[in-house]
Amino acid sequence: MKDINKLIVANWKMNPQSKKDAEIIFKNISLFVKNLKKIDVVVCPPFPYLYIKDKIKNKKLKLGSQDVFYEKEGSYTSEVSIGMLKDFGAEYVIIGHSERRMTGDTNSIINKKILATLKAKINPIFCIGESKRDANGFYLSFIKQQIIEGLALVTKPQMKNVVIAYEPVWAIGSNAVREATAGEFIEIRIYIKKIIADLFDIKTANDIKIIYGGSVHPTNANIFIKDGGADGLLVGRDSLNKKLFGQIINLVK
Ligand code: PGA
Repeated sequence: MKDINKLIVANWKMNPQSKKDAEIIFKNISLFVKNLKKIDVVVCPPFPYLYIKDKIKNKKLKLGSQDVFYEKEGSYTSEVSIGMLKDFGAEYVIIGHSERRMTGDTNSIINKKILATLKAKINPIFCIGESKRDANGFYLSFIKQQIIEGLALVTKPQMKNVVIAYEPVWAIGSNAVREATAGEFIEIRIYIKKIIADLFDIKTANDIKIIYGGSVHPTNANIFIKDGGADGLLVGRDSLNKKLFGQIINLVK
């Protein structure tokens, strides 16, 4: 049966700049999630701060990472393996974020990362999204290709652990062109489900968790959840701000 918990993912990106600040932010978030029901909050700090989960214990607050390498171990300078992430208690991994795609992650690399993550029984948060929209709808085939190539060789049973994050690149970060609308999210959500139904089956498409990311703020969080039918949110900037992230969690609640 579909896990009906909403998922809120905090993507800290390359922030904050000290352990001290990371611990403060994590502690604040862990206070918000204490009495939460039907919402899973996942914090994805930079790799050096993954220790935080051991230090500030809170079973309800889940840990994720912002990336992973697909090989198990060995001579891969600077890379981090899924085994290391597991050892720190990570349950989720963001894979294919547009900022990683910009530095070289192709659909095929992303696919290898997703397969390695699923094999280790960790949940991939698979990011997809176009850089711009065009009147002829070519962005739709771009998204379709990301999904088909990213999920190659993933099995039907494994799909229950996959979360898809639709993040239109034009709506991400402080350089965003504009915010996305609920209507735009609904269109893509239905489109993703159709692709998943064709690749797997209707049940898998019904059950797949599709979350929204890109300039999520307290002013629009509810729009994507309530009007857009999102199963959760991927929050960048506002996840570092106690007040704003607290408001977003409250709105989803
Ligand atoms: P943003 O980032 O909320 O700062 O736009 C979202 C993301 O890139 O995951």
